[in-house]
Amino acid sequence: MLVTGGAGYIGSVLVPALLAEGYSVTVLDSFLYGQSTLLDCCADERFEVIRGDCRDERKLGPACRDADVLIPLAALVGAPICDQDQVAARTVNLEAIRLLLSLRSPRQRIIFPCTNSGYGVGEKEKFCTEESPLRPVSLYGTTKVEAEKAILESGNSLSLRLATVFGLSPRMRLDLLVNDFVYRAVNDRTVVVFEGHFKRNYLHVRDVARAMIHALSNFDSLKGGPYNVGLSDANLSKLELCAEIRKQLPGFVYLEAPVGKDPDQRDYLVSNEKIERTGFRPRHSLQAGIAELIKGYRILKNVKYGNA
Ligand SMILES: NC(=O)c1ccc[n+]([C@@H]2O[C@H](COP(=O)([O-])OP(=O)(O)OC[C@H]3O[C@@H](n4cnc5c(N)ncnc54)[C@H](O)[C@@H]3O)[C@@H](O)[C@H]2O)c1
Repeated sequence: MLVTGGAGYIGSVLVPALLAEGYSVTVLDSFLYGQSTLLDCCADERFEVIRGDCRDERKLGPACRDADVLIPLAALVGAPICDQDQVAARTVNLEAIRLLLSLRSPRQRIIFPCTNSGYGVGEKEKFCTEESPLRPVSLYGTTKVEAEKAILESGNSLSLRLATVFGLSPRMRLDLLVNDFVYRAVNDRTVVVFEGHFKRNYLHVRDVARAMIHALSNFDSLKGGPYNVGLSDANLSKLELCAEIRKQLPGFVYLEAPVGKDPDQRDYLVSNEKIERTGFRPRHSLQAGIAELIKGYRILKNVKYGNA
């Protein structure tokens, strides 16, 4: 199978998990962040890696030709980076998906990771299901939702609408909400929270990999639509998330102040019933993820600019 963006935060956990399940995996990634993940996969004969841009037909064409499954993870991920480089956001998140669809044969299955960040708009009081309209506000959200639509329309595909992912990965992202708050709690002992009552939903990065493997193993019965994936017992507001962190770091102080605004105005309750009915349940709780992050941040430390 082909995993584009396989050297990213999710891919660096997913690809070893796929290899462990016995799949052969080719990764196409531009290694945009200078990351050196996946080195531990290189000894595996079933692993192949191509350094290249997913928008480049000369790279994408040969990479996807013999794949039975396509998992396009490559993207500029998150509203801030998409605003920084809007042309790249459109070409990587959307045009490269259209290119992939034009190159792909109908027998090749596609599993796509989408964001659920558009659900919040206009649906605040009720549980959002896959039928609720997705109305993302940010460029990141709109490119992902358009890409999902194109992929689902093309058939033999499914999409996983992921909650905000947390947990350690060899390509760590400190810009994700839980990862960010725990990092600040460990290193600064304080966070200033904006829109503290906005409800969000969360999912461990290893459960993303498990959900993808579940989708692969049950593809024929699951294909044809989107699935929300998240922890159903963790639809928590940002302030409730801080309270969970404080249970493990009692010295943590958090304050609320209007210092920012979420570009997608995410404030929503999400139902994961559809995927749960197919037998999938996340295994990693938010509390276990917080404990894991606290441990990991003893390893990840900024020791470059300062003496102590
Ligand atoms: N992390 C989350 O909370 C979350 C939630 C929902 C959906 N997703 C989706 O999951 C996917 C992976 O996200 P992530 O958190 O691992 O992000 P990430 O930024 O860590 O990974 C993206 C990867 O894509 C690669 N890449 C970027 N531009 C490329 C290009 N032009 N050609 C080839 N490779 C390129 C990067 O080098 C990186 O390895 C994305 O499609 C994202 O939209 C993530």
